[in-house]
Formats: sequence, C-alpha cells, structure tokens
Amino acid sequence: MLNKSEIMPNLYLHIDGDIPQDLQKGTLISLERGTPMKIYMLGFQPAKSIPEIPRWFLQKYTSIPFKILEPFAGAGTTIIESIKNGISVDWLDYHPLSRLICQIKTSIFPIGEVKEEINKIIQSAYEHQQAPETIDFSNKDLWFQKPVQDGLEILRYYIFNSPKTTQPILCLAFASTVRKTSNMNDGMLLAARRSHIKKMPKLSRSDVFKYFQIYVNQTIEAVIEWHPFINRNLHQVKQLNLTDARTITGYVEYDAIITSPPYINAIDYVWASKFELHWLSMVKSNQERLNLYSQEIGTERILKQERKELGKTGYKKLDKLIEDIYFGKKYQASRGQNQLRARVVYKYFMDMQQHFKSTFSCLKPGGYYCFSIGDFSKICGVDIPVASILTEIACHLGYQEEFHFHLLLKNRKLNIPRNVNWASTIKHDTIVVLQKPV
Ligand SMILES: C[S@@+](CC[C@H](N)C(=O)[O-])C[C@H]1O[C@@H](n2cnc3c(N)ncnc32)[C@H](O)[C@@H]1O
Repeated sequence: MLNKSEIMPNLYLHIDGDIPQDLQKGTLISLERGTPMKIYMLGFQPAKSIPEIPRWFLQKYTSIPFKILEPFAGAGTTIIESIKNGISVDWLDYHPLSRLICQIKTSIFPIGEVKEEINKIIQSAYEHQQAPETIDFSNKDLWFQKPVQDGLEILRYYIFNSPKTTQPILCLAFASTVRKTSNMNDGMLLAARRSHIKKMPKLSRSDVFKYFQIYVNQTIEAVIEWHPFINRNLHQVKQLNLTDARTITGYVEYDAIITSPPYINAIDYVWASKFELHWLSMVKSNQERLNLYSQEIGTERILKQERKELGKTGYKKLDKLIEDIYFGKKYQASRGQNQLRARVVYKYFMDMQQHFKSTFSCLKPGGYYCFSIGDFSKICGVDIPVASILTEIACHLGYQEEFHFHLLLKNRKLNIPRNVNWASTIKHDTIVVLQKPV
C-alpha cells in the first residue's frame, strides 16, 4: 500500500470526471470533479463520500441483477449511485440524522403539499407570540441567541404538528436552520470553544424563519431533480431494521458491500451534529446523546478502567503502534491522553474486525467488499496506516484483496488536529476492493 515518504506531486494521475475502469492497481489519483446533482449535497454529513467512488465500483464490478449493502450509509452517496444504476440496495446507519437524510433520499414526497405546508408554517410562525421552551442541552445559551431559540422553538412546534407525509423534508430543512443560526461559524464542524471563533452578528426570530424558508426551497429543488430516478427504482431500496454495523447477521446474501467506514480519530459524528440531534428531539437528554456516541465505531467514550489497559489485538504491526501511542514513544500528551488514544485505536480496529466478520457471512461467495478510508492517521505522533491495517484484518478473516487505489482529498476537513505536532489531517483516501473467495 501507500508508503508516506514516497508521495510526490508528479506521482498523481490527474483525472477529469469519472474514475476510469482500467486504472492500474495502486495508482494515486487526483480528481477534477463535475457538478454533482443537488441530492448529493442534501443533509449534513462531515465525511460525505464522493459519488465517483461507488460509481467506479458499480461500473467495474456489477452485472444486473445485483444487490448491495451499505452499512455506514451517512448521507447516502452509495444509495444514490445504486439507485441511479438500477441496482438494489439495503442500508443502515446508527446515527438518527443520517437515517433521516437517507429516508428523504429514498422516498417520494407530495411536493405541492410540502409547499402549502411551508407557507402555512411560516405565516403562523410570524404571528406566534409566546415561544414555548421545550428543548434543553448543555451550553444551549452559549451557542444559541435567545431570539434564535424562540424562533426554533416556534418552528419546531409547527413542524411536529404538520402531516407525516411532509414532515421529513421540513425536519431536514429545520436541521440546516439550526446549524446556520447557531453561534458556530460557517464551516465549523464541531461546537467547541476556540479562540479564533468570530463573534456572530445578532440574529432575530425572523432571521430564523428566513433561513428555514431558504433551506426548505433548497431541499425541494434537490428532491424534484431526484424524483424521476427514485420513482423508477423505489422498490429496489430498503432500510434494514438494524442500527449497528458490527452485528449484521441473518440477512440475505449480498453481491457487494460498498461503503466508507468511520474515520479513526477524526470525526465524532454525534458531537458534530449535537445541535440537530437535540433540536429535532432525536436524543432527549445529554446522557442519551452520550449513550448514542458510545455506539459509534471510533468512539472516545471509553470507561476509565478500560483506558488503562493496553489492548492487544493479535495483529503484530498494529499492537506495536498501539504500544507506541500508549507509552508516548513519539509524543507524550497530557493527562492520560496517550492511554486513552491507544485504547481508542484498539477499540476502533476491534470493532471493525467484528464488522468485517459479520459482513463476511452475509456476502455471497465471490462477493465484493469495497471501502474507502483515510490512508494514514497520525495519533500522538504515531502514523497509523488505517487502510492497510483494515485490509490485513479483513484478509485474516477470509477476504482476499482484489484491488486498491488512492485518491487525493480536496476541500475535505476530515479532522481537527488538536496539536499539529502529534496529529495531522488526512491527505488521501485509499479505496480497497476485497473479495470473498468462491
Ligand atoms: C464516513 S461516514 C459515511 C459517509 C457516507 N459514505 C456518505 O457519503 O455520506 C461513516 C458513517 O458511519 C456511521 N457509523 C458509525 N458507527 C456506526 C455503527 N456502529 N453502526 C452503523 N453506522 C455507524 C456514522 O454515523 C457515519 O454516518
């Protein structure tokens, strides 16, 4: 796989548009992308994949009929590509906001009714006097100005009393409104106090309603453009009655899995969407939100007792890296951080091992598992070759590596280095195709 020190700019194969099917194994590519359909952009997902990856896989490896599983659906990139190619797809994600986004992308809505409903809601919201006070979470007053809180409470009230047929679109537009009207600066992923945060201008209740109207219109536009595709293939997509990708058993045999698993030490999906989760009542309390985070692959929510243990995965190279982090070989962080990070790495790979095990049993013999993941992550100064370790684990469980290539990441903020000496941003995604032997 990729050796960090060998990467030079002239090693990239520059590609304009779709990734060619006759790519050589191990190629490093830099992609110039066209303008994607609006449906891809819909919904907040900090590590959204690019459609060119599942598209490349589908064009290279599939024949019809074909059945795909997407176990980390996120904002549904693989689902959309499968639907566009007329291929059946089942999906799941543990995150309630991701599920809402994917449900919208896999449903048909009565657009006329949505438009009528939004007009009614906006009119009632402007006329509404006393705002209810139903939502509470830590640091709410720090991140939401009082008139914004009132505006959001009023919108919430009308959205949750609107017909079920139109509600999901309104909820998604509301989620974007929450993010936009919070005191987070545009482009910030996490609500964390930082010295460089710009003070937000004062916002009024009606600013909240205006943003909501804008986001509803954007959602409607994206959905109208998408409807002809989903209309033809609605019967080919199914949300599984499962929320944990570590325990997928007893399901039909899939021809392929196409996905991008969580990035290690990068995005905390629950923290990144804390505001949306609370304002949409997807979690009812801070505790419920933290419990949700515990289910995330890559979670840093690890019991104190467990943190102290030096985990042994049984993979020699990985165990050495975990040890280097634990004992601060490259960087001695403060207050138990080395032990915590070592445990996070251990747990991430053990969770992924469990995931690979459970997916192996639901793939057909000869079936494929295609994943994209950051190639390297630096943790406490230690370079973790994530893609190659995941490949090693999968191969140990019976998969065979069939193909891989690397993609230069552009305009994607996948992680927030806490300290540039011991963490760094992910520069490439590695795309790996595994095969279950026949
Ligand atoms: C890299 S993102 C996927 C992005 C997606 N490919 C897209 O284009 O939007 C990883 C996803 O894994 C989900 N995830 C994390 N832990 C999970 C678990 N235990 N079970 C199922 N999904 C999980 C996260 O909610 C997140 O949506």
